[in-house]
Amino acid sequence: MSWPIRKVGAVGWPIEHSLSPAMHNAAFAALGMTDWLYDKIAIPPDILKLSLRELSDHGYVGVNLTVPHKEAALALTKPDELARAVGAVNTIDFRTRVGTNTDVLGFISDLRAHDVPLEGQRVLLLGAGGAARAAAYGLGRVGAELAIANRTTERAERLVADLSLDARVLSLEEAVNFAPALIVNCTSVGMFPKTDESPWPGELPFPAGATAYDMVYRPRRTRFLAQAEMAGGRAIGGLGMLVRQGAAAFRIWTGVEPPIDVMTHAAEQALGA
Ligand code: ATR
Repeated sequence: MSWPIRKVGAVGWPIEHSLSPAMHNAAFAALGMTDWLYDKIAIPPDILKLSLRELSDHGYVGVNLTVPHKEAALALTKPDELARAVGAVNTIDFRTRVGTNTDVLGFISDLRAHDVPLEGQRVLLLGAGGAARAAAYGLGRVGAELAIANRTTERAERLVADLSLDARVLSLEEAVNFAPALIVNCTSVGMFPKTDESPWPGELPFPAGATAYDMVYRPRRTRFLAQAEMAGGRAIGGLGMLVRQGAAAFRIWTGVEPPIDVMTHAAEQALGA
């Protein structure tokens, strides 16, 4: 075994249910990268700054950040343009102290992997939090025609203004007439254990034939995805986005092309366990 160990990890609070260790460690194993290890690191918000310095000083090459640290990390790293635009850091490279956001690439590349057309297509985003920001930024860059519907309208308006997007803010009723080709759930509505919920109200007709993409991946088939299929559309769960944002971080830390199929299989296994 080679030495020293090059460590990376996921920092969150809580972090027990993270699929990232399984995904990254499977990739290291498949590539024979025996000197790399991906850890789960539980860190409460009040000691994030101190903890990141400690990790950096003790052999960590970089970390992923998850709830609730993504916004706070902006001030604790050198955020690149992507992280600043999205307003959140999910990946740090301690060698450069750069904080970036791989959710944007994870999302867009998963849509591409599923052959979902984006350029000039009408896309409706549900939600206006951090996940919606990453989606809106990526879709704006590839030339989709965007609309955003959020429970709190002002938050959607702020998102559009902050990102200087050419996007409409709509109510869900108005969104039906927008006739989107793709609808993306960027909220956590429908996530386990509240699997009978959907961000799309049952009494409102689901746009016929629209593709649904759900950033929720626990369960794999959400109520929202079932609604899309019943209306004759495609349904794509968010596990691919999780894998591909992780793959992008892997590429940054190691400089090695990650095995997407291995990471996908590991994430599926961990999710099922
Ligand atoms: P994230 O960073 O994961 O996007 P967030 O910033 O907490 O998380 O944003 C959560 C999103 O889900 C928001 O758009 C939120 O709507 P509000 O802006 O009105 O709070 C949305 N959301 C959460 N629970 C919801 C619910 N029960 N119904 C509708 N929208 C909901």
